[in-house]
Amino acid sequence: MELRFATRHPFPLYCTLNPNFSLALGVLMVYPDFSVGVKEVDLGTEASFTEFPATIELEGGDFYLAKGKDGVLRLLSSLCPHSWGTVYMEDTCFMCPSHGWRFEPFTGNCINGPIAQMYSFAVTARNGHLFAELPDKK
Ligand code: FES
Repeated sequence: MELRFATRHPFPLYCTLNPNFSLALGVLMVYPDFSVGVKEVDLGTEASFTEFPATIELEGGDFYLAKGKDGVLRLLSSLCPHSWGTVYMEDTCFMCPSHGWRFEPFTGNCINGPIAQMYSFAVTARNGHLFAELPDKK
């Protein structure tokens, strides 16, 4: 079953019932719809980010710029991959108050639930600026 709908987030989403996971747990999984293309968004200068994860607001949505232990930068969405709760930083990890899923602050991997990850977008550095690739709203 697939259903497309608009969200408050800057990328369109679609719902799908994953027969291997969702039906067994009665959970509705939501995924970004990458079929609409990708656009590059300027996050600002590299020097402006001194602590990670850093909160960034982009096009009406909240994101976190996270830096892995390997030095890789990722842009993580605050939209919970479970069912649209809002993930925020609490103590030493990300937390979704809706059902209590927690995510580690370097990669957004879920640390107390099923195999899941916060929506993550590639970040590259160029000419002193950081750029993220986000799904393009058409
Ligand atoms: S919406 Fe269920 S844990 Fe986030």
